Parts: sequence; structure tokens; C-alpha cells
Amino acid sequence: MAHLIAPSILSADFANLQRDIEMINRSQADWFHVDVMDGVFVPNISFGMPVISAVKKHATKPLDVHLMIVDPDRYIPAFKKSGADILTVHAEACTHLHRTIQYIKQEGMKAGVVINPHTPVSALREIANDIDLLLVMSVNPGFGGQSFIERSLAKIGEAKAMREATGASYLIEVDGGVSLHNYRQIVEAGADVLVAGNAVFGAADPTATIATLKNYEL
Ligand code: DX5
Ligand code: ZN
Repeated sequence: MAHLIAPSILSADFANLQRDIEMINRSQADWFHVDVMDGVFVPNISFGMPVISAVKKHATKPLDVHLMIVDPDRYIPAFKKSGADILTVHAEACTHLHRTIQYIKQEGMKAGVVINPHTPVSALREIANDIDLLLVMSVNPGFGGQSFIERSLAKIGEAKAMREATGASYLIEVDGGVSLHNYRQIVEAGADVLVAGNAVFGAADPTATIATLKNYEL
């Protein structure tokens, strides 16, 4: 499968959000990556449901919603209502992760689980067959524009090996510090989905950058 590109709207121009959404619609991007931060799980606050609903009105591609919030169970139906297609929760924020995944699926969304740099891939082994997406954080979450943590490449390989060993079928997504310098290595390591914030929106030509990220083939 050719890998997917999910530009992160955290790095978009919020005063020109419709313009940036339409750019992604017309580009070769596959998903919209939507970062929700609560100021508790991570030391930053981004946006919530009203903004996601506004994005959904214009987006013609799936919304990949990454929740960096404590107790996500409280808001699962609300994120569905706002337009999330894929809802990803942090393993570190969920005491009853298996239950949370079932809840997301019951609400009609694809279920993803994300692990911080300190969390081993093996922490997800018992739920490998329950998830649609395994997101490897390659920076500490909270901010765009940080540097890729090199050890993440090995974790992508571990996620791939675990998928094979368990017969699971999740996609492996990588988020944080993906750039034109390292995206080939990340795809080679086994990533199915690349999130890119600063690399896309900080570029002189975001559409061309998306095309470059997309068209690398193994
Ligand atoms: C970080 C977010 C990322 C962020 C990535 O906490 O989860 O999705 O937008 O931004 P870049 O690609 O600039 O590292
Ligand atoms: Zn993210």
C-alpha cells in the first residue's frame, strides 16, 4: 500500500483556515490530522469541537483526530458529532484502554491508540487486534515544529513486527518532526501514514511539499 499523508492543521493559519483546508482538499494529501490539546495531558491548548465542526464543513477527506486530553471517554460521542472519522487516544491517558477502544468503535469511528516516546510498543500487544491505527509519537506531544526523536524509527519496526506476530491489521502512523529530510527513512521503517505540520505549512509551496512526501516509493 502506498503510504498516506495527513497534514496537521495545528500548523495552518487559523485566520485563513478555510483557505488552508481547501489547499489540502486539492492536494495529494489523504487525511486531515486534527490535534486536540487540553492543557492538562499536554502543556498546551489547541482547539475543540466548534473548530472541528467548522473544519468538517469544508474538508473532503477524513478527519484523523488526535486527542491529547485526559479522560477522553467523556467526549467520544461529542467528537463523533463534530465529524471525527478516526479517533485516536493516548495509551497514557486511558486507564481502561480496551473499553475506550470499544466505545470509539461503537460510536461509528475507527479507533486509534497513540504512544508517547517513553511508552513501549509492547504496551499495546493485548489490544493489537482491536485497533485500526497505532500512532507512534516521534516527539513529546504538545507542539508542532519539534525535532524527530531517532529512536522512533526502531519503534516503527517494532509496531510492524507486532502486527505480523499478532495477525493484526492496524495502520502505523508517525507524528512529530516528519520532514523532507527524514520522510524516506520513516516510510522505509514501515510507516503507513505520515503526519506533517511544520514541513507542510512552513513550506513556500505546501501543495508541492505534500506531493513530494506522498510520491516516495519503496
Ligand atoms: C504534536 C502534534 C503533532 C504536530 C506535528 O503534539 O501531535 O500532530 O502537529 O507537527 P510537526 O509536523 O510540525 O512536528
Ligand atoms: Zn498529532
